[in-house]
Amino acid sequence: MGPSSDLLSGMRKEGARPEALNAADLAHLIHPLTDHMKLSSTGAQIAVGGEGCELVMIDGQRLLDGLAGLWTVNLGYGREDLVEAATKQMKSLPYCSTFGGGASIPAIELAERIAQMTLGADSGVFFTSGGSEANETAIKLARYYWRRNGWPDKQIVLAHERAYHGLVGSATAATGLAAYRQDFSPLDEYVRHVPPPYQYRCSAGVPCEAGSCPVCRGEALEQRIEALGEENVAAVIVEPVMGAGGVIVPPDGYLAAVRDVCSRHDVLLITDEVITGFGRTGRWFGCDRDDVKPDFLTFAKGVTSGYMPLGGAVVSGEIWEWLRESSAELPLMHGFTHGGHPVACAVALACLDALENENIVGHVQERGRHLARELAGLLDLEEVGEVRSEGLVAGVELVADRETRARFPADRRRSAQVVQVAQERGLRIRPLLDDILLLAPPLVISDEQLSFAVGVIAESIIATR
Ligand SMILES: Cc1ncc(COP(=O)(O)O)c(C=O)c1O
Repeated sequence: MGPSSDLLSGMRKEGARPEALNAADLAHLIHPLTDHMKLSSTGAQIAVGGEGCELVMIDGQRLLDGLAGLWTVNLGYGREDLVEAATKQMKSLPYCSTFGGGASIPAIELAERIAQMTLGADSGVFFTSGGSEANETAIKLARYYWRRNGWPDKQIVLAHERAYHGLVGSATAATGLAAYRQDFSPLDEYVRHVPPPYQYRCSAGVPCEAGSCPVCRGEALEQRIEALGEENVAAVIVEPVMGAGGVIVPPDGYLAAVRDVCSRHDVLLITDEVITGFGRTGRWFGCDRDDVKPDFLTFAKGVTSGYMPLGGAVVSGEIWEWLRESSAELPLMHGFTHGGHPVACAVALACLDALENENIVGHVQERGRHLARELAGLLDLEEVGEVRSEGLVAGVELVADRETRARFPADRRRSAQVVQVAQERGLRIRPLLDDILLLAPPLVISDEQLSFAVGVIAESIIATR
């Protein structure tokens, strides 16, 4: 299928020149996670438009966006309601800071709405520009809370190996993936890691039985807190479903166990809902799966469906009340120029309306069941060690040997090759660490599109044998 004539004529009007753009890209645009030398032969993947779940590339190719951008464009491309919300707000008030008591109407309304739908009507919301800043905020606030309450040594933050919490300051330190950390020292030394509930490769032994596994029961975390001394531990940060680390879906009860351990040891719990928030897993928030209420809940991405950058940290009623009172003595000396940006907040309000009015969470539950059935078929392929999914986020783990679960040598670039062939066949997906293929499409995707995506993944695995 070719791009619509509207999009093509738009490209012509804007004078899109692939060669000149590629040259300028190579000369000036620094891309994260990119081999720029390789780009000089392949060229950048320049998108010029999008419709629904599809991206339109500069050469006219249409791709089913199996990544929703970066687990972000949950409502899909071309949403007039979001565009209108942004335009209207830009015309009336394009910018307003929240420093020193400043506020815009959308920021106030959004804070109220997100508080009510997450940690309750008495909770508070601190807005940021994205997910990294949201986690940085939660980590800073956790330490701040303990320090100002007479516990200056409660500074250590525990995160999971393979976690991804963003790439600024302490959030980088919390990210438990070596490639993002190894050349960026000095990192925050008061962030440490614990094993994740990664049952396929459980550090406590395979096969992993969640009911008796010390990692999955939260015992490994508890032992670590005890070894460090709870008087030294400020917080635990956890992704309800680990995303970039390989779509690791914890066994039922893991989050509840973590909550319980934190509560018993006076350690604050931060749930990083940057991917899992706003419907991705078939629940409004990932921590709903175990009915867990954290002390801080961070969000970004899906809150605006990527139409504007926005993130935030929700703060429990108890901590917010303390923060409010203590600010009389010393105001919170933390904040961002674009935190609570009125245009981003207006888009988020329209996005929440759409999520509610279109019952997106229910849609994800249904589509998620279809996706899980389709993914199960991939296990017929000898390279597929495990498929994992929750709602509309899925990981397909490729292995060289199913019996031993041995990985392919890195230089085989097994998953990268699959991704390349899939792209040629009209599907955008991405390789995660250790040959795990990621599929996280817009939440408005159809069963037919999901079947197409899984079919292309199967064909691409076979074609790259
Ligand atoms: C779970 C999680 N936390 C935090 C982040 C960082 O968000 P941002 O890139 O908006 O700073 C991401 C980004 O992918 C993420 O997946």
